[in-house]
Amino acid sequence: MSTFSHIRGLGFYVPELCYSNKDLEKFVDTNDEWITTRTGIKQRHVVEDETCLDLTYNAAVKALANAEMEAEELTHILVGTFTGDMLIPSTACQLMERMGLKNRVAMDLSAACSGFVYALEVARALINLHPDAKILVCGAEVLTSRVNWEDRSTCVLFGDGAGAAVLTAGNDSEPGKVIDTLLSSDGGPSMNLTVQGSGSSFPYKMGDTVGDEYFIKMQGREVYKHAVRSMTAISNEILKRHNLTAEDVDVLLPHQANLRIIEAVGKKLGVPREKVFVNVDKFGNTSAASIPIGLADARESGFIKDGDLVLLATFGGGLTWGSSLIQF
Ligand code: ACO
Repeated sequence: MSTFSHIRGLGFYVPELCYSNKDLEKFVDTNDEWITTRTGIKQRHVVEDETCLDLTYNAAVKALANAEMEAEELTHILVGTFTGDMLIPSTACQLMERMGLKNRVAMDLSAACSGFVYALEVARALINLHPDAKILVCGAEVLTSRVNWEDRSTCVLFGDGAGAAVLTAGNDSEPGKVIDTLLSSDGGPSMNLTVQGSGSSFPYKMGDTVGDEYFIKMQGREVYKHAVRSMTAISNEILKRHNLTAEDVDVLLPHQANLRIIEAVGKKLGVPREKVFVNVDKFGNTSAASIPIGLADARESGFIKDGDLVLLATFGGGLTWGSSLIQF
């Protein structure tokens, strides 16, 4: 690639309502101790009246402000999500309308939790094709719309939120450079993590009530093993491709699904714990929103500093996974 893609601004937004582990104890047979030791999650934000579009819009406004850009300047809008307000129109098209824009390229991208990193790579390719492009890349989910609140093995894990980044072309030496991204997927173990309802293999018939197939289902142990293996392997691969080692990494930001997965990936890669960014305790697993929320949160809090080399590692349903290297 000859043109570099740079992150010019970041923002995130979560709904106000927040359920602590103790709150969940009131409606499902679980407890703070189990959730904390198995997942590291202490609380998650949950929508009341807001929709996926509302969350995405609020994150986008913040990212644009952080980039010191106007919505009008955007040429492309990409949204990684599998819990948009509707199947059609896409969240990206709705967002374009909400921002008062017309005649832009707008599309959603479905790669489950890896949706943002997949969209980041699409943005990088688009900037290479169209060096004047100014691209809004979002990751947004209302996972609680697909959670069975009676299933303790899944409902404690997920939260709602959105994150966004604005990308434009830039010079090699400018901050925010996306050095590289590697993506992969494997449909073989795909049934370990599913949301089947709304798919055409589950056609809705008049009079049907929504069934169990509308909820997130997961073989936790299988997903856990695959997540650790694949995120470690692809992170090692991207480092090797650039003649870098774990010692060169200033911040490791893995998909925030489970603290044990995050720590296992850090350990296997050889990145010291103090360089591993964690906010799963505050937000739970927000799927495609997890990485951009993490980036914006880590930048705002100063965890990612100017000049830092950041390694992203993501993993999700599909199964999909990926890694990015960003120089801030
Ligand atoms: N509270 C209390 N007990 C529970 C709960 C709960 N919320 N959930 C399950 N249990 C019980 C089970 O019933 C089981 O009890 P039993 O031994 O009497 O049968 C026991 O705890 C152990 O259950 P496991 O499912 O084996 O627990 P495990 O140690 O595997 O942890 C977990 C489960 C946290 C889901 C883990 O497997 C995991 O993190 N997997 C990866 C999940 C993930 O990262 N997904 C995200 C990637 S993709 C995406 O984000 C969409």
